[in-house]
Amino acid sequence: MRDIGNIIKVEDLNELGCKAAEIIIYEGQRAIEQNGKYMLALSGGRTPQPIYKLLSSVEYINQLDWTKVFVFFTDERCVPSDHPDSNYGMVKKLLLDYVPVKYVFGMYNGVENPREAALAYNGTIKDVFNLNTNGTPKFDLMLLGLGEDGHVVSIFPGFENIEISNELVVAPFVEKLRSHRISLTFNVINQSKKNLFIISGSKKKNIFYSLSNTDDSKYPIAQINFNRTNSTWILA
Ligand code: 6PG
Repeated sequence: MRDIGNIIKVEDLNELGCKAAEIIIYEGQRAIEQNGKYMLALSGGRTPQPIYKLLSSVEYINQLDWTKVFVFFTDERCVPSDHPDSNYGMVKKLLLDYVPVKYVFGMYNGVENPREAALAYNGTIKDVFNLNTNGTPKFDLMLLGLGEDGHVVSIFPGFENIEISNELVVAPFVEKLRSHRISLTFNVINQSKKNLFIISGSKKKNIFYSLSNTDDSKYPIAQINFNRTNSTWILA
């Protein structure tokens, strides 16, 4: 078995939510203490929803200075923010509407061409992180889910090598979803200071075990450098 990071096993999604919320808060407190701000990238899907609810609950809400948190998204669907599939809309409804957050950077700005949205987000990241043309951001924490086909963010099987030199954000057309997604690239994920993976269910756990048994896995998620990005896995 190879070392792919710190592994936390939990009983269910509630416990997964608590552990993840604690790690997100701990890393945020540390980043704010060290740099005065917390660069955080949040993902969509079902698994993180209890985490977002917990972060805005009375138990946790005051543990993080949300005025110093910069909220980005790891990937997005090309739908308006009030659409049920919007990651921005989901995170807003469960978390952002309740916390005194000042800096939120949604990925989809309503343009018809998803590639333009990706380019615009590329520019936003460069501005907010104050990067030069070839710079890559270092998020303090990226919260990452996993698909049952091994996709991570919106990089699905077949798009593993989507790394367009200077680009940080891409807009792949995902055949099986018959739609475009907007997604951060592995360029960005592999520079993150900490990647927190949330894994639930036997299919995803099997992918996790295959990743920990071999370093030539074909799943898109295998493109992540787990050691360099100080990975923690919560398995439910
Ligand atoms: C999204 C994602 C995606 C997600 C996985 C797992 O917007 O859908 O960011 O990468 O993390 O598809 O989703 P579930 O948690 O719903 O299984």
